[in-house]
Amino acid sequence: MEKKIKVLFLGDIVGSAGRKAVKELLPELLKKYKPDFVAANGENAAGGYGLTEKVVEELFSYGIDVLTSGNHIWKKEFYPYLNKSERVIRPANYGEGAPGKGWTIYTKKNLKLGIINLEGRVFMRPLINPFLVGKKLALEIKKETPFILVDFHAEATSEKIALGYFLDGLVSAVIGTHTHVQTSDARILPQNTGYITDVGMCGAVESIIGMKIDQAIEMYLNMVPRKLEVEKTGKLKLEGVFLELNETGKASFIENFRFIF
Ligand SMILES: [Fe+2]
Ligand SMILES: [Fe+2]
Repeated sequence: MEKKIKVLFLGDIVGSAGRKAVKELLPELLKKYKPDFVAANGENAAGGYGLTEKVVEELFSYGIDVLTSGNHIWKKEFYPYLNKSERVIRPANYGEGAPGKGWTIYTKKNLKLGIINLEGRVFMRPLINPFLVGKKLALEIKKETPFILVDFHAEATSEKIALGYFLDGLVSAVIGTHTHVQTSDARILPQNTGYITDVGMCGAVESIIGMKIDQAIEMYLNMVPRKLEVEKTGKLKLEGVFLELNETGKASFIENFRFIF
């Protein structure tokens, strides 16, 4: 029988509420899906902004293999860890000399999974072109493994869909993150790349993308920049996708999930 590689990917984990959702529900998902690899976006896992070594270790202890990130990863205290880690990556399309790595090849059970992290440029900062950086890295990683996931951390749905088609056939999946709102378009693209515009988030349900409602509304009323606090009360949700890849790295199945408890 053909060997299938199974992968779980969780959306942005927001603060302690998001970590709790992972702690409570990931064990059940591991039983249900029996994934070979588990990846998640961790850019908001420590207090809503960035990561710390302690939070990373906590998330790894729940069964996450690799953490991707995005625009919120940049905390100076975390740079030494980011520089040495092979399991926590940041978007690859930042300039030369940026701390950390933009991609990794993670080995588990004799299988190698390549993961590339990219950040969008529409309604975001003018980074290096994620299309060109992504394609170059994918061609490089393909020499070592056919299994390649791309976390495209971006705001605009159009930019995300465009990258999906641009990398279709070259990578196993293009998975969108950053908006924290799951889209209903999980599918296999024509050249067998799994795709979803945004996988969603892990965190508080009654929140504004994981943060306190009153604080976010206040910010939209007075437009004064402020740091928002993570919503920790009420129901929690865990959102992500499950993928099956065949031995050539092509996606044969993708399914999005959302659990609320
Ligand atoms: Fe995020
Ligand atoms: Fe983000």
